[in-house]
Amino acid sequence: MIDVPVNLGARSYRILVGAGALAMVGAELARLKVGRRVALVSDAAILALHGAAVTRSLAAASFDVTTVLLPEGERAKTLEVAASTWERFLDAGLDRSSTVVALGGGAVGDLAGFAAATYMRGIGVVQAPTTLLAQVDASIGGKTAIDHARAKNLIGAFHQPRLVLSDTSTLLTLPEREYRSGLAEVIKHGIVLDAAYFEDVERGVGALLEREPAALERIVAGSCRLKASVVERDEQESELRHVLNYGHTIGHAIEAVTGYRRFAHGEAVSLGIAAEAGIAERLGLAKPGVRARQVRLLEAVGLPVRGAGEAPSLVVEALSRDKKARDGRVPFVLAPEIGAFRLVFDVPTATILDALADLA
Ligand SMILES: NC(=O)c1ccc[n+]([C@@H]2O[C@H](COP(=O)([O-])OP(=O)(O)OC[C@H]3O[C@@H](n4cnc5c(N)ncnc54)[C@H](O)[C@@H]3O)[C@@H](O)[C@H]2O)c1
Ligand SMILES: [Zn+2]
Repeated sequence: MIDVPVNLGARSYRILVGAGALAMVGAELARLKVGRRVALVSDAAILALHGAAVTRSLAAASFDVTTVLLPEGERAKTLEVAASTWERFLDAGLDRSSTVVALGGGAVGDLAGFAAATYMRGIGVVQAPTTLLAQVDASIGGKTAIDHARAKNLIGAFHQPRLVLSDTSTLLTLPEREYRSGLAEVIKHGIVLDAAYFEDVERGVGALLEREPAALERIVAGSCRLKASVVERDEQESELRHVLNYGHTIGHAIEAVTGYRRFAHGEAVSLGIAAEAGIAERLGLAKPGVRARQVRLLEAVGLPVRGAGEAPSLVVEALSRDKKARDGRVPFVLAPEIGAFRLVFDVPTATILDALADLA
């Protein structure tokens, strides 16, 4: 088991990464001296696959567990589902000492985290992520949210977990497309934060695609360390935390233009990385070849870097509605080289259009 600390003063916590981490939940919660009542929040499919390890461990440590089932995926992130979750917490007698355990992907983590952040002004939550995206991204950093009809993740709160249990053996049941989509975030971390980690992923592509246990553990722990270091320096997303949006500025715009249907999130991020790497080269910020290396790794893990070039003008229009726009200008995170980043505010529209044309 790899133990990754997240140092946030009074809100510090640990991320335990490795096969079998779920079975530690009872003992770890007992160590945190929380109350006896626990709400296990998940969806039916995940619970059937991975719930037993959690309920057995909690029962062995004498916790009193109520299970709350959510609709699958993004359908969980609504105000109605949050309200019925609060109702279930009340019925189960959860009090301020109780704990919510979120077992699932980012959608379960976001809804359960939001419900925990708001119930009685905030009770403890343990994130137990079961998708690659949730293990390397969503479970760390304390962002929780539900969706609004006008935009995803518009209503939410910062609420750091008490503990994160990233059981890498749960990744063995993930559908292939879901798994590869998560690899986009892994590659993103390497490009903007750590060249050695990027090289590690390059060398380990075969083992990663085979989901070899040791490779999964090393990569998930590596990404957790990188994301934790960003969150430690910028907990509430003022400036530095923008670095994690690499590939996402254009990626989100592509998702919006294609109605969130055509591409999985990681696939859109992959296209976004390909385009943003093109912007960096066109601005003379990155040397020739830096983009090619990013594109090569994305392709090696089966992520798309082409095939979204039909409507660059629509993508540019969607960019102007970006949540991160300040005074109408969208900040771009760009990579001058592998392992480094720069925040650039004034990218000319013509440059963006040119870079998007590369995706055709
Ligand atoms: N809070 C954050 O910082 C943050 C960061 C990134 C993304 N997110 C959010 O995360 C969500 C996406 O998360 P996601 O990609 O994990 O998808 P998801 O949570 O929507 O889950 C996708 C599907 O995978 C299934 N599943 C989960 N684990 C499984 C497993 N081990 N085996 C088989 N099936 C499994 C689920 O039942 C679901 O049907 C979005 O709502 C996004 O906004 C949040
Ligand atoms: Zn993402």
